[in-house]
Amino acid sequence: MTVCVLHAAAEMFPLLKTGGLADVVGALPPAQSQLGTHARVVLPGFPAVLAGLEDLQSVADLGGAFGAGNVRLERGVLQPHGVVVYVVRADQFYDRPGNPYLDAAHRSYADNDRRFALLAWAAARIAKGADPAWKPHIVHAHDWHAGLAPAYLRAFERGGAARTASVMTVHNLAYQGTFPASEFGALQLPGDFYAVEGVEFYGHVSFLKAGLYYADRITTVSPTYAREIQTQTHGAGLHGLLQTRTHDITGILNGVDYSIWSPSVDESIASKYTASKPSAKSKCKAALQERMGLARDDDALLFGVVSRLTEQKGLDLLLSAVPDIVQRGGQLVVLGTGDPALETGMKNAAAAHPGAVAIELGFDETLSHSIIAGSDVVMVPSRFEPCGLTQLYALAYGSLPLVHRVGGLADTVVDSSLENLADDLATGFVFDTFDRAGIVGAIRRAFALKSRRTDWKAVVKRAMNQSFSWEAAALEYAEVYQGLMGR
Ligand code: ADP
Ligand code: GLC
Repeated sequence: MTVCVLHAAAEMFPLLKTGGLADVVGALPPAQSQLGTHARVVLPGFPAVLAGLEDLQSVADLGGAFGAGNVRLERGVLQPHGVVVYVVRADQFYDRPGNPYLDAAHRSYADNDRRFALLAWAAARIAKGADPAWKPHIVHAHDWHAGLAPAYLRAFERGGAARTASVMTVHNLAYQGTFPASEFGALQLPGDFYAVEGVEFYGHVSFLKAGLYYADRITTVSPTYAREIQTQTHGAGLHGLLQTRTHDITGILNGVDYSIWSPSVDESIASKYTASKPSAKSKCKAALQERMGLARDDDALLFGVVSRLTEQKGLDLLLSAVPDIVQRGGQLVVLGTGDPALETGMKNAAAAHPGAVAIELGFDETLSHSIIAGSDVVMVPSRFEPCGLTQLYALAYGSLPLVHRVGGLADTVVDSSLENLADDLATGFVFDTFDRAGIVGAIRRAFALKSRRTDWKAVVKRAMNQSFSWEAAALEYAEVYQGLMGR
């Protein structure tokens, strides 16, 4: 029997992206469809989503809900893969300029609880047959934005609806969607759902907790993170609940969409190259140095960063190590946006080291490819990292990742220690302790490896030959779904 799954999420590449969630929601459904799972997606009707879909049609009138006015369900198609995408059309909620979550002053929208409750509720309505032409067996909710979907499914079952299974994927436990308890009444859930055995979390409503509690299965985006979130250190207050669900949790590593992230097909980089003929990579480096106002020097070891500028990403630690990079003749280029203090820190570093450190503040898809291709080393020194995609992209481009041994970073990068070099295992640089000594040690290893030309080339080649396919991930998700069918 063909499994039909509905992904509920806030972002999907290329329609709308603020981080890795979008890359996953853009790539997983087509990979699943290739393998015979019928995967569709439901998204909020943000302007960029509406603008990017073809054949947009009205499917159903969902009535008034959450104070959003009249809500309509529409359905379009996202090319080139032909993924069917449902759109929750509620312009009062979603037709706002800029970021999907934050207003112009970078504050969360005051009605984010109702905006995302609507997404989850609409997903559950689709599961209950809102589209007469298609109904999923499984609702697959991503992150807190869709966390209430499993709760609505349970609520509808109480009203007599047939059972629909659900999967909750945690892309980041740090974002939980917690709201004041006083908002619970607006969520259209049965009163007794506000309980420790339910959506309540330390006197608040937590959308993520709701998903973790009510979903039939839980997945997260790497095996190591799946273990970490069950510990007090990394559990963000939810480890107790997660421990009780340990047998329902699976860590499935994200993949790479190699049709987008591969130096042999990438139209946005200065020159294409391959693992067997990587020489043109130096043209990408020269172009990046030029573009960012760095000294044109092929010998300068170029470190790149493409990242949200948040506490998670450990870029304060990187800032403390900038002198170590520069004194050794290295260069640093950063593309990012976010926390004002980190933005200022980056700007100051660039001002202090003209020609050696360059920063671009903002979100720029094309430049992100140029940095991944043009850097010698891509840094991801995160405090915690559920999976991380940039280190996977870096591997594909032969730009050796330098990472903290945590979460998905630990699962995907092998340090260039002498023994790993000797055993042909090394693909990058990994540090164990999140402190200056840790990151500087890894930076020094990068310089040391660079000075051994043959070893460097061998590691670059091995990095480029790594494969993190979405097909492999889709097969693992299929197993999770199979466990839910016929229950
Ligand atoms: P996270 O989802 O925590 O931000 P990931 O590594 O999983 O981290 O994914 C980040 C994604 O967002 C990658 O595709 C990365 O290239 C992209 N990205 C992050 N910051 C920027 C930026 N400033 N401009 C362009 N792309 C960015
Ligand atoms: C989150 C995580 C990141 C992960 C991404 C996609 O934003 O921070 O580690 O790669 O989701 O799953």
